[in-house]
Amino acid sequence: MGPHAICFDEGAVCPLKLPRRYFEPKETRLMGESERPRRDFYGRRKGKHLKASQERYLAEDLAAFSPGAVDWDVNPDRTPLNLEQIFPGSPVWLEIGFGGGEHLVHQASENPGVGIIGCEPYINGVAMLLGKIRRAGVENLKVHAGDARDMFDVLPEASIDKAFLLYPDPWPKLRHHRRRFVTPEHLEPLARVLKPGAEFRVATDIPDYVRQTLEQVPQFGFEWLAEGPDDWRVAWDDWISTRYEQKALREGRVPHYLTFKRV
Ligand SMILES: C[S@@+](CC[C@H](N)C(=O)[O-])C[C@H]1O[C@@H](n2cnc3c(N)ncnc32)[C@H](O)[C@@H]1O
Repeated sequence: MGPHAICFDEGAVCPLKLPRRYFEPKETRLMGESERPRRDFYGRRKGKHLKASQERYLAEDLAAFSPGAVDWDVNPDRTPLNLEQIFPGSPVWLEIGFGGGEHLVHQASENPGVGIIGCEPYINGVAMLLGKIRRAGVENLKVHAGDARDMFDVLPEASIDKAFLLYPDPWPKLRHHRRRFVTPEHLEPLARVLKPGAEFRVATDIPDYVRQTLEQVPQFGFEWLAEGPDDWRVAWDDWISTRYEQKALREGRVPHYLTFKRV
């Protein structure tokens, strides 16, 4: 089904096609003599304070869940990760911006035969995840405490079986739409690392984010799998509601669940 055939109850999905300047990054600069791209990050990397237990999880556990050399400082040549070594014989899934980690840990414990990589630059969220990992006792995951764009650089082409983008930052102002995840800067490398046939799930409570997602994602080699309204109104069978979704529901916003296939 194409975006033109959609009729959202909320009536807020705008069919407007935005000029490219609203979703393309301002610029990609070279830094020094290396080819390291400039990647602005507008979210929070650290909140007010960490509990003592969370400081301990970070100090004691984070290194054990490292997927290897991801950041530019430690891998300037962008040598790809060896996923077969990291998760021998397992399909690999990717969660982008896992927040407090409830969905990541849920999927890891429900799918012990899968290896899951989570990316999250917000260190308080990473600390929350590590606490949940301890309590759940799951081991089939790796954590990149940083930007998903750096992870994309070092993932081999067509290596990921499923990807999750759950309640990405909405950036509601028009002049900030280029900061959204569903822009070429993110979708191009995501498409490169997903296997043909891989599933890409997007959840959002922002009607205009639905619009931008349905407009942009198919341009990067994805097919939207919806056949009827339940396919975006009803959550996936294996869903666990995230902290952000709970807040959205309390504030009266409506979740949308969008499922794409990498063609
Ligand atoms: C609105 S929160 C949603 C968190 C979680 N998925 C949930 O549903 O509760 C969006 C998250 O995406 C993260 N994020 C933003 N840009 C990112 C990037 N480039 N790479 C990885 N995570 C990112 C933010 O730090 C934030 O935690």
